[in-house]
Amino acid sequence: MRLVLVGGSLRKASLNTKFLRHLAKTLEGRGHSVVPFTGEALRLPLYDADLPGAPAAVTALQAGLLEAGALVIVSPEYNAGIPGHLKNAVDWVSTLEKSPWGGLPVLLCSASPGAFGGARGMLSWRATLANMGAFVFPGSVNVPHADKNLDEEGAPTEARTVSSLNHTLDAFLDFAAKLRA
Ligand SMILES: Cc1cc2nc3c(=O)[nH]c(=O)nc-3n(C[C@H](O)[C@H](O)[C@H](O)COP(=O)(O)O)c2cc1C
Repeated sequence: MRLVLVGGSLRKASLNTKFLRHLAKTLEGRGHSVVPFTGEALRLPLYDADLPGAPAAVTALQAGLLEAGALVIVSPEYNAGIPGHLKNAVDWVSTLEKSPWGGLPVLLCSASPGAFGGARGMLSWRATLANMGAFVFPGSVNVPHADKNLDEEGAPTEARTVSSLNHTLDAFLDFAAKLRA
């Protein structure tokens, strides 16, 4: 399956970007193709209806999502919600004529130095994505204490997180394949 991976913060040392890279490697190792949107690809101007049109980075994201079998979002949690740059990216894409969101299977992931691993931010994501008709998988992968619980390559080191990741990824890929069959 072709999966788009969107996430991380804009800073270079983003834990979420690091984890996203590990997910990309894992998915590729299982024979899937992966198209990542991270870092500078997500540094977009704030949505403004007065701008003459969508920036090229927004239409590139839209095109990636239209071709995707499934989407994995790896999102930091800011004040128990969606970070501004990611919400802005979703808002931009939602203004375009051809929507990629309807029926799109989505897995939500997060990493945080905190004890909940960014899990509270998932609720905001679920509300936003449901509004656009995406099929958000019921489970999610949240990496707590991510400043200590990710190795150099972004792989979780804590047994409970590793097990949650493997189990949730298997179940999500099955869910996405059934939805797309
Ligand atoms: C504005 C702001 C709000 C934050 N709010 C939360 C929060 O609600 N929950 C949490 O676990 N971490 C919170 N954090 C800490 C982030 O989880 C932490 O900075 C994390 O490393 C950000 O992700 P990144 O490493 O991918 O940049 C917040 C950080 C910022 C800058």
